[in-house]
Amino acid sequence: MAFKNIVVVGASGMLGQALTGYLRAKGYTVFPTTSETLNLLVTEDEMKEKLEPFQPEVVIQCAAFTNVDGAERDPDLAMAINKDGTHKLGLASQSLGAIFAYISTDYVFDGLKNEPYLPTDRPNPINTYGLSKYYGELLTSEQLEAYYIIRTSWLFGIHRNNFVQWVLDQARSGGTIKAAEDWIGTPTWTGNLVVAIENIINSGVYGTYHAADSGAISRYQQALQVCHMAGLPTDNIIRVNSADLALPANRPKQSPLACPDLAVPSWETGFQAYLLQYQHQLTAS
Ligand SMILES: NC(=O)c1ccc[n+]([C@@H]2O[C@H](COP(=O)([O-])OP(=O)(O)OC[C@H]3O[C@@H](n4cnc5c(N)ncnc54)[C@H](OP(=O)(O)O)[C@@H]3O)[C@@H](O)[C@H]2O)c1
Repeated sequence: MAFKNIVVVGASGMLGQALTGYLRAKGYTVFPTTSETLNLLVTEDEMKEKLEPFQPEVVIQCAAFTNVDGAERDPDLAMAINKDGTHKLGLASQSLGAIFAYISTDYVFDGLKNEPYLPTDRPNPINTYGLSKYYGELLTSEQLEAYYIIRTSWLFGIHRNNFVQWVLDQARSGGTIKAAEDWIGTPTWTGNLVVAIENIINSGVYGTYHAADSGAISRYQQALQVCHMAGLPTDNIIRVNSADLALPANRPKQSPLACPDLAVPSWETGFQAYLLQYQHQLTAS
């Protein structure tokens, strides 16, 4: 364990909660912040004031405006949080001597490559969310010296609603599951991602990384597999084309991430672990 004090920004989110719990269990001293305690809309100086008492060695930026369709409706807010907020937080972290780790997304890519994207591939975002996250990456890499950009994709985890949980909930209640057959990506369990993040921040090799589980799959196939593995009926899963969903934001058609710097587990392994947590949560409620 190389670091003592780690600040997790966006610690109330799906990834932030998993990361905080994991790093604490590994013995790190973690200072979690939320939009209440460290908002990305305040000035760089205010961010510095909030961070300083933690004496951070690493700041992990998990906070984001993550509503992809919402970003088309409110691009100014998406940019203010994902681009400007990340920029200010990175500068504030650097001024305190902390390493900055920025969690980014497969949505920085246009989805036209036809094979998994490498960390060195050129981003070309096709929606506002992707653009705002890409600007966050650019400002991080151009203005900071000690940084990690960690792109991940199609997250699922126990702490907040997500596609996998929605599929399970719908299948259990007999609801309809419309899932696109023309979106292909790499589902990633937050429980696997937190291990990858720990390995990356301890590597000492700054730069851009991909951290996703293995196994490219369409949303439709994923919904089928989730229900199969959970022993739930698949009758209500309807294969659709993404255009039929008429969503405000375009999504990349194929955005699987290649992770050349990491040994990554399969998303199905992650799903098995997630399913136990999901079932435990059901019986506890
Ligand atoms: N979910 C995915 O499928 C996916 C895929 C690829 C990459 N990512 C990236 O992974 C990271 C984590 O995603 P997630 O799914 O865990 O996100 P999430 O569950 O939506 O959580 C977002 C977090 O950001 C915080 N936040 C929002 N606005 C803020 C503001 N103005 N100031 C400070 N904090 C603010 C939220 O805090 P409050 O709860 O206090 O509002 C929350 O802690 C993000 O950077 C996202 O872009 C996610």
